[in-house]
Amino acid sequence: MGPAATRPPTEHGTGTGACLFLVVGLPGAGKTTLARRLAEEHRALRLTPDAWMIPLFGDPEAGGKRDVLEGRLIALALEVLRLGTDVVLDFGLWGRDERSALRALAAGQGSGCEVVYLPVSREVHLERIRRRQEQTPQLTFEITEADVDRWRAQLQPPDEAELAGLAVPAPPAGWASWADWAATRWPSCER
Ligand SMILES: Nc1ncnc2c1ncn2[C@@H]1O[C@H](COP(=O)(O)OP(=O)(O)O)[C@@H](O)[C@H]1O
Ligand SMILES: [Mg+2]
Repeated sequence: MGPAATRPPTEHGTGTGACLFLVVGLPGAGKTTLARRLAEEHRALRLTPDAWMIPLFGDPEAGGKRDVLEGRLIALALEVLRLGTDVVLDFGLWGRDERSALRALAAGQGSGCEVVYLPVSREVHLERIRRRQEQTPQLTFEITEADVDRWRAQLQPPDEAELAGLAVPAPPAGWASWADWAATRWPSCER
């Protein structure tokens, strides 16, 4: 697709036609590598929490600060989409609800959204983690084989409907909207 300014309005009529890419995969799967490529191809803004958490805190989680940082990056992403620029969220997004919430937030303001999944076999996964640790130790954190197996069991792979960008399901019971759900999952994601 050409420059953002020449894009037609979306079917919602209010959007700029910009697209939010959700990169889904486990640590070491190759997300950041793919996110860089997508950012280049689409002239998109790439938002990679590890690139902030590790320099700031020397730790990818830092006692819940990652959730807050991700919340601020989501607010920023939505703002940039409204300006007409594509955004790549290099977040991992293992949970279906996380992806549904982000798809709903994008749709709610007339932006597009695309789920990009990066499955890897256990063997390739372990090899990529080993390589990354070797090549860029300053950009990563120590990962054990036990971590890998635990994470692989936790990830909820995107289903066909998500990959095809079909309608977002209703929020889980007890939540009035996906925006409410998102504000709890990512404190500070509200504008
Ligand atoms: N498609 C690929 N083929 C081979 N190696 C890859 C590929 N994608 C990523 N890698 C390598 O695997 C390692 C992990 O990739 P990275 O993008 O940092 O993963 P993530 O961001 O998911 O943790 C890096 O050393 C990277 O160079
Ligand atoms: Mg990464």
